[in-house]
Amino acid sequence: MCGITGYIGHREAYPIIIQGLQRLEYRGYDSAGVVLFDGQEINLSKTKGKVSDLQAKVKHDISTKGTIGFGHTRWATHGVPNHVNSHPHLSQSGNLVIVHNGIIENYDTLKKELISRGYTFHSDTDTEVLINLIEEIKIQEKCKLGKAVQLALQQVIGAYAILVFDKEKPNELVIARLGSPIAIGVGKDNKEFFIASDATPFIEYTKDAIYLEDGELAIIKLDRDIRIRKINDDTLVEDVKTQELQLSLEQIEKGNYEHFMLKEIHEQPSAIIDTYRGRLLANKGIIRMSGLDDNMERFLNANRIIIVACGTSWHAGLVAEYLFEDIARIPVEVEYGSEFRYRNPIITEKDVVIAISQSGETADTLAAVKLAKSKGAFVFGICNVVGSSIAREVHAGAYTHAGPEIGVASTKAFTTQITLLSLLALKLGKAKGNLSVPNYQTYLQELVQIPNKVEQLLKEDEHIKTIAAIYKSVPNFLYLGRGYNFPVALEGALKLKEISYIHAEGYPAAEMKHGPIALIDENMPVVVIATNKGYYEKVVSNIQEIKSRQGQLIAIVTKGDTTVKKIANHTIEVPETLEAFTPLLTTIPLQLLSYHIAVMRGCNVDQPRNLAKAVTVE
Ligand code: AGP
Ligand code: GLU
Repeated sequence: MCGITGYIGHREAYPIIIQGLQRLEYRGYDSAGVVLFDGQEINLSKTKGKVSDLQAKVKHDISTKGTIGFGHTRWATHGVPNHVNSHPHLSQSGNLVIVHNGIIENYDTLKKELISRGYTFHSDTDTEVLINLIEEIKIQEKCKLGKAVQLALQQVIGAYAILVFDKEKPNELVIARLGSPIAIGVGKDNKEFFIASDATPFIEYTKDAIYLEDGELAIIKLDRDIRIRKINDDTLVEDVKTQELQLSLEQIEKGNYEHFMLKEIHEQPSAIIDTYRGRLLANKGIIRMSGLDDNMERFLNANRIIIVACGTSWHAGLVAEYLFEDIARIPVEVEYGSEFRYRNPIITEKDVVIAISQSGETADTLAAVKLAKSKGAFVFGICNVVGSSIAREVHAGAYTHAGPEIGVASTKAFTTQITLLSLLALKLGKAKGNLSVPNYQTYLQELVQIPNKVEQLLKEDEHIKTIAAIYKSVPNFLYLGRGYNFPVALEGALKLKEISYIHAEGYPAAEMKHGPIALIDENMPVVVIATNKGYYEKVVSNIQEIKSRQGQLIAIVTKGDTTVKKIANHTIEVPETLEAFTPLLTTIPLQLLSYHIAVMRGCNVDQPRNLAKAVTVE
């Protein structure tokens, strides 16, 4: 999720740590903190806000002396962004201190056990639970920090990159990772070590880096080689590989991708996993989401669900309309926030409103939420930024755990919103008795296959790039889809418009004959989503209508399709999946098509003209 940076060696640690946190700012964050050990005391300072706010606070807060220390930029998952929830976190004794990136899914169970053993907590975070679990084990097992961390992590379910320090053993640091990256910069002759989420904080000090693998724990001590163990079976990792870094600062920030947008497109498999992590136990047929679980009656007794959103989030809301009506049999209306807030809508206490917003700051959506609340509706929020305005305004909600989305064009937010909405629809569909247990189970088992299928689909990138090269200079595009994929057609058109500045329109495929087909000729590229579920035969007819008018057809088809392949100018295959989950796959090639066309046109892909990442004004 966010950023860790640390140092142990002969230099003053603070300047290295602060610069490291600044280097990690591109990862997006909501709060920051630093801890230093001056040989006697642990000096810790943290704050909500930016690294610059932390620097200003440190000046009158703590001594910055010390040659060992570490810092953290937080992307909150448990506990709103505020001073107390910021990292680093101290254990109850004050001797241990931790910074953590990731999510501890079973933190609640662990916290209850620790409270029963007399532990008290100051923050709402999962991280503070982990540092006290480590302390409790260290006390009970009378073991060193490294062993205590290892035993604690064997009890943890979730994702983490952690850095832990014991004041009573100040010449070492313990790090571990599962699902969140962490790298070690190795100084000359092991005289100093740098720890960070990526190499940007230490690239000018050393080019020698060791990247922990998932499930590994390392104990870092000066003047000694790094020792790495497997967390689960305690085996020593023999051939520790030190890599010589060749990357530039900018390349590291973008994870070796040319743009943040491309990086975020490729992060979608892990973002979808992080979004259902801890909420979907497919093998047990369980979906759990506290914001929903605590308010099931409101949803089950609702007259209808009104979804308010803007832009890409509005497209996710349209997909949700199909999901909720098809699976949960609950009437749904989808509204633009900007229209809903002013048209004096009829809202009653029997309505449930779902507000969808990546940033959680979109003014029109926020205003729609306030209006719905004022008229007695129950409002549920789906945001990606913990503690954002919309997240704080709604009655309840659930966060997508997509991580910071830096590119203005929304990609992983869209697929993680649909993931969350799918979980909602499935849970409600089962609770209302509209889903048989076998059907319900089939959905759950398929949903956990989606990340792999997205991963497979991302391998089509080169093929999609060749198609982009053919159409990069056309003035117009049409996007067509039916059923669940009608909203994906709209989303595909928006992606192209907003980053390549080519005019594009999305339509329900059958709508063509009501006017738009007049646009079709040999100069009009038409993207058609023709997966083999739903109204496949009817979409094929629509394709033939276009072909007979010389339209240039780019078809998104299910792997192995032979029918459409004979008609279309180009086809892009997506893996087979359930109809309800096709949007999670069909949107991927449309993201990549838009991305490559925009790059070929020399557009500023991450910051397109006239656009902002969050539209906080009307
Ligand atoms: C989508 O790529 C655009 N960046 C834009 O339409 C965006 O989806 C819209 O402004 C809503 O933003 P939100 O999800 O943060 O509320
Ligand atoms: N889950 C932790 C928290 O919410 C860490 C979040 C992060 O990765 O920054 O504080």
